[in-house]
This record gives sequence, C-alpha cells and structure tokens, in this order.
Amino acid sequence: MVYQYNYPTTILYGPGAVAELGRRLANTPDRRYLLVTDAGVVKAGLADRVAQSLGEAGLELELFAEVHPNPIEEDVEKGVAAFRRIGGAGLIALGGGSPMDVAKAIAVLATHEGPLSRFDDGKGGDKNITRPMPPVYAIPTTAGTGSEVGRSGVIITRDTGAKTVIFHPSLMPRVAVLDPELTVGLPASLTAATGFDAFTHGLEAYFAKGFHPMADAVAMGCMELVVDALPRAVARGDDLEARGRMLLAASMGATAFQKGLGMIHSLAHPLSTHYHVHHGLANALLMPAALSWQLEEKADAFTDDLRDRYQRVVRLFRGREKARPGDLPEAVTAFRSRIGLTETLPSRGLKQEDIPKLAREAYGDPCHSLNPIPVTEADLAAVYQRCL
Ligand SMILES: [Fe+2]
Repeated sequence: MVYQYNYPTTILYGPGAVAELGRRLANTPDRRYLLVTDAGVVKAGLADRVAQSLGEAGLELELFAEVHPNPIEEDVEKGVAAFRRIGGAGLIALGGGSPMDVAKAIAVLATHEGPLSRFDDGKGGDKNITRPMPPVYAIPTTAGTGSEVGRSGVIITRDTGAKTVIFHPSLMPRVAVLDPELTVGLPASLTAATGFDAFTHGLEAYFAKGFHPMADAVAMGCMELVVDALPRAVARGDDLEARGRMLLAASMGATAFQKGLGMIHSLAHPLSTHYHVHHGLANALLMPAALSWQLEEKADAFTDDLRDRYQRVVRLFRGREKARPGDLPEAVTAFRSRIGLTETLPSRGLKQEDIPKLAREAYGDPCHSLNPIPVTEADLAAVYQRCL
C-alpha cells in the first residue's frame, strides 16, 4: 500500500491571533475581504469584534451574514454576488461549520460555472474544480468540528434538495486562526457538547482501520488535551488557557480523522436529523453504549492492537496501573458526567419504534465503514437499543 498523509494547514494559535491575521493580510496590496458569518455570531457580538480588529489592522471588510444553520445554495450565490461587488482578495469565514462551508463554496462559485451540484463529491464532482480559487481564512468560534482544517463543505443544493458534500484539497483554508478570546462566551453546555465532538473525532480516528501512525499520534494528542482542558473550560468559561487547548484539540481531531471515523458518527447523524440533538451531544450519549456493545458482543473480533488502543485511552482517565481495556465505557461515562452531559437519549426523543428507521439511516452513512470492527444494520440497531 502507498499512503498519502496530509498535515499542511497553517495555524495561528493564541489570544490575539485574529489581530495577527489582520497584520499579515494588511501587508499585501489588496486588502478587501468578505467576512462570511451567520446571525448567531453577529448576535453574540463576535462579528463586530473581529471586524474591528481586522479593520484596525488596515483591512477593508464587507460583512456577509446571510448563512443559514444548514446552508443552502442561495446563501452561496448571495455571497458570490457580494464578493464580486467588492472585488475581494479573499474570504474570511467566522463561526462554526456553516460559515466555513459557505465561504468555501463561494470560493468555488466565484471562479467556476454553477450550479453547485456539479461539484458533488459523491459523483466525482471534484474533477470540475479546475481553476485557482480565492483563499479562505477560517476563524472558529466553537471548539469542536474542526472545519477550519477541513477540505470539504456541505451545502443543500437547489436542484437536488439534498445535503451535498463538496470536496477538494484546495478548499482547505489558507490559515486557521485559533483565538481563544472568541470562545470565552460559549455557554457551558455548548462548550461540553462541542468539546465532546472533538474528543469523538480523536477516539474514532485512533481506533479506525488503516495504518496511519501520524494520525494516531495527533488523535491521541487531541484526546489528551480534551481530557485535561474540557472540564476546566466548562467550569470556568473565561479560562483562556483551557479555551485555547480546546481549540487546538478540535483542529487536531479533524486533522486526525482524515484516517477515518467509525460507528459512533454513523449512529449520531440520524439523531441530529430526526430529534435535533446537537451533534456533539449525540456522540456523547452514544459512545459508552457503542464501546460496551463492541466489548461484550464482538469480543472475538478484537485484535491485540485494538485492545492496546482501548487501554491507552483508559490511561488518559485513570493512569497506568488501573487501566484495563474493558473499563473504557465506564471511564467515558464518568467523564461525560463530569462535564455536565447527564441527559439520556430517551429524554431527547429516542423511541423503540424509531430504531429500525434510525439503524437503516446509520447503516447508509459512510463513517462506519472504517470502524475497527465491521458492523451490520442489526448491530447498529442493537446499540440504539442499549441506549433506551
Ligand atoms: Fe463529529
């Protein structure tokens, strides 16, 4: 096998990183940028703060905040129109995953003929991305998805009405700006849920099939950071050091999952679609059941390597002496409670009669294909069943 490993994103990290981005961009002749964000970020006052900081550095910004939580093609078209109007040199995406998805899609449609469905990665649309695109600079306001280091965007395209993945190596943001001053205002419950998503990326990437020691090391580093920093960020929102560590953990989790994810993400996606459970919370509420189901029902499928990996993750919580692979579900449950994620899936809508439909959708989701132990639709149903 010949493997390709990609770790190329430039990251600016630390309090004041936004101002540093402004100084760097102001050193170039063209200083006009479209600031792509959404109503929530504007309401939280973060768009103003970032615009002020970048403006003081000498950039000329046009604010574009018409991004839906699940972005649609029209958001992208409006963004392209605004970008052309100002003759922008690039895009600055500020927010969670949605503004970053839209900024990347604006870069595509600003330089390529639409519609967006032409670029559907599921249909080989990456081949239609052929021209140089304006750069995207990504500033996350939550620490979880890690979209700031990703090469894809998800938009609901007009002609199919479906969530469509656009993927291309050149969609990766030019710089990811991890500035903890932007995440201090995030409420504790969102801090915990988004942070748990980062942890799940680390855990699933670490366990995923495939030979990728670099991703393994980054995944382990991600989990170490989360176990140390997330309880502190939840307990004290203004702990800048903990906030910064969580931003790094989120970028590291998403960097590591180029190796792959696993069954927990496949199980989580339908819960967000049908019950509107926050993605990170869905991962948190599923993880112990998914781990214990594998340990108990698929014990024969565990290789020595996978057992070692479980044990190494337990060590992050319990230290070297007390770490046994079978303790992982309990260790995760204790951590989950420590950060205040104490709900159950039935309290968020999970019902017995929904399980066949959810399991069918989870099985149709591609993430589980790299789960270290192969799973069937019935297996996925069995994990939902454990959560009742
Ligand atoms: Fe995730």
